[in-house]
Amino acid sequence: MTNRLQIAPSVLAADPLHIGREVKMMLEFGADLLHVDIMDGHFVPNVTYGRGMVKALKKGFPNIVHDVHLMMSYPEDHIDDFIEAGADELTIHVEVAGDVEGMLRYIRERGLKAGLSLRPKTSAEELLPYLPLCDLIMIMSVEPGLGGQKIIPETLDKLVYLREHGYKGLLSVDGGINQETMGLVIRKGGERLIMGTGLFGSPNPALVIEEARKIS
Ligand code: DX5
Ligand code: ZN
Repeated sequence: MTNRLQIAPSVLAADPLHIGREVKMMLEFGADLLHVDIMDGHFVPNVTYGRGMVKALKKGFPNIVHDVHLMMSYPEDHIDDFIEAGADELTIHVEVAGDVEGMLRYIRERGLKAGLSLRPKTSAEELLPYLPLCDLIMIMSVEPGLGGQKIIPETLDKLVYLREHGYKGLLSVDGGINQETMGLVIRKGGERLIMGTGLFGSPNPALVIEEARKIS
């Protein structure tokens, strides 16, 4: 909680023709790590990309953390692929049907940070049995599956709830964070801001990052 605020640009919002160039720019502006959204067309309606994207990003940017968000109904079938591609952190959703505990344990055993996320409508209580197995919790502050949506402010109460229930790991927030909403997210306890449109769609992303750091 006293840690430095982390800014994680979400690659989903980068121009697909110029991802490398745009990511480089965000890192030069002071972003800390990269957030990569994997969507399977089943857990969420959209499909994005697979391990090839993670591998290319890791090769291009080997010295930063690659935070891979698996919006997949069957993540257990793909965890090894993303580890081999170079992910540093793998986040799965608590709503998936598989063995959530087993997957979190496995991700850690393989030397990565294990993350757990939840949809806006899922209660934070669902996470409680898994807290000791999580290095990060990613609160979805919009419905997963699409960039550029409006933040749902009530979801941020989950940050407070988790701290009150003894969670000690990193609190990350994903969706609808921009220059206007970042203050609220930080005040509620967000330690990692995942920002797609709020950075890549901003005329002045360097200023957004600078201002976020001033708030925190
Ligand atoms: C949404 C993704 C987010 C997305 C956020 O399902 O998990 O990472 O990129 O995009 P913005 O910041 O535009 O809401
Ligand atoms: Zn995401």
